[in-house]
Amino acid sequence: MRDHFEVRDFDAGGRIGELRVPRAGVTVETPALLPVINPHIRTIAPAELESEFGAEILITNGYILHQSDDMREAALSRGLHDLYGFDGAIMTDSGSFQLAEYGEIDVTTPEILQFQHDIGSDIGTPVDIPTPPDVSREQAERELATTNEALAAAEGVDVGEMLVNAPVQGSTYTDLRERAARDAYATDLDVFPVGAVVPLLNAYRYDAMVDVVAAAKRGLGQDAPVHLFGAGHPMMFALAVAMGCDLFDSAAYALYARDDRYLTVRGTEHLADLQYFPCSCPVCTDNTPKEIRGCDDETRERLLARHNLHVTFEEMRRVKQAVRKGNLLELVDARARGHPAMLDGYRALLDHADRLERTDPVSKDAFFHVSAECSRRPEVLRHHERLARLDVEGDVLLSEGNKNDDYDATWRVVAPFGPFPRHLSDSYPLTAEVPERRSRDAYEAAAEGVRALVEANPDARFTLAHWRWPGSALERVPERVEMRPLGDRED
Ligand code: GUN
Ligand code: ZN
Repeated sequence: MRDHFEVRDFDAGGRIGELRVPRAGVTVETPALLPVINPHIRTIAPAELESEFGAEILITNGYILHQSDDMREAALSRGLHDLYGFDGAIMTDSGSFQLAEYGEIDVTTPEILQFQHDIGSDIGTPVDIPTPPDVSREQAERELATTNEALAAAEGVDVGEMLVNAPVQGSTYTDLRERAARDAYATDLDVFPVGAVVPLLNAYRYDAMVDVVAAAKRGLGQDAPVHLFGAGHPMMFALAVAMGCDLFDSAAYALYARDDRYLTVRGTEHLADLQYFPCSCPVCTDNTPKEIRGCDDETRERLLARHNLHVTFEEMRRVKQAVRKGNLLELVDARARGHPAMLDGYRALLDHADRLERTDPVSKDAFFHVSAECSRRPEVLRHHERLARLDVEGDVLLSEGNKNDDYDATWRVVAPFGPFPRHLSDSYPLTAEVPERRSRDAYEAAAEGVRALVEANPDARFTLAHWRWPGSALERVPERVEMRPLGDRED
């Protein structure tokens, strides 16, 4: 029984949760961002991450600390919290990333996990193998077996109250990812990072990231906190949270700053290309792009890192607010307009609408139909599934217009949902705000709804009354069509 993670609110697959970190004596609200602290390079001091940016948890690399004599001794004698001057929770990584970069590391899971425990880490990590995308199936399976051995070895280490990550690998094979997640969930480990997604994110393969996360989620229970390992660009937070990711770590704020790159929620800009700052953080209100270009290397890097971190935390707060309000998918929709690859990610997310539907609240504040993609939202899917289960008798008019007494019942039809009994007009999602000028996708979705209803009730008689627009947008004519189940058609 896992009792260290509790979900409070859902929106689509996204959730607001509480991660209890017993060793730190704190509860972290999720989704949470863990700024990465490079033990060698302090772009922003950990104490300031807490006081100025509100960081409740951060991540650092246990392997790097272990490899340096000075740092190893300091970490062992003082403990990480004292060393960093940070009171929140501290997660440590194991050196797997270095393993992936350099092909070899000289520690085993029991050694490095014990070390993470001894330096006071609150959440430790075994030595998993971050198998890159698109490798052969043999390689993916072989390395996954090694990762599973590392998880088994981690279970054998006495780590006291320290929580332990159980990374989910499997490259781009969704069946392997799902199995890896099931195996990880069956251990007594605590947090479930989806690993080796950095190459996908760097290549803007957001749709592949979505499929990989969806596969991992299928193998995990709802009480599993999910970390998207190495993901820290704010443009994809809404998308990844909607898939059910709870933890993110950002080295991006510092790495991008080193290359004069400026993060925004719509993508990355180069400082050289900016005439104006589209941001009101302290860095961007106190400086112009020209002024920052004129700073020495160290100052420029520090200022850009601060801006990058401000937008990153700001977006995470916006995402959390959207989950609370129930308009996360509207935010994902907005973010999808920032880059065609983000739109692919959003469309991939909607391919999993049936999974999102399971946790999507039955009622929310409002449904804003703001794009063709909205026709594939979980609410529309749920409505169509309901229509397919409804029992209907007699002569039913499905009408965009008013009630008609020539029929036993007059149902309303609203795109993208399709038909529904009039008394449901005031219930979510049929209260949706829909534009007058709907897209073809919305009408096709409505037609899907009509089809589901008609097919489920072959003995009822349905007539669809709708408006036809023969020419000008100013002129419309009513039209009535009798709807028959497909099997009954003579033509
Ligand atoms: N950091 C980014 N990706 C990974 C991963 O797959 N495994 C570990 N341990 N750390 C990571
Ligand atoms: Zn800024």
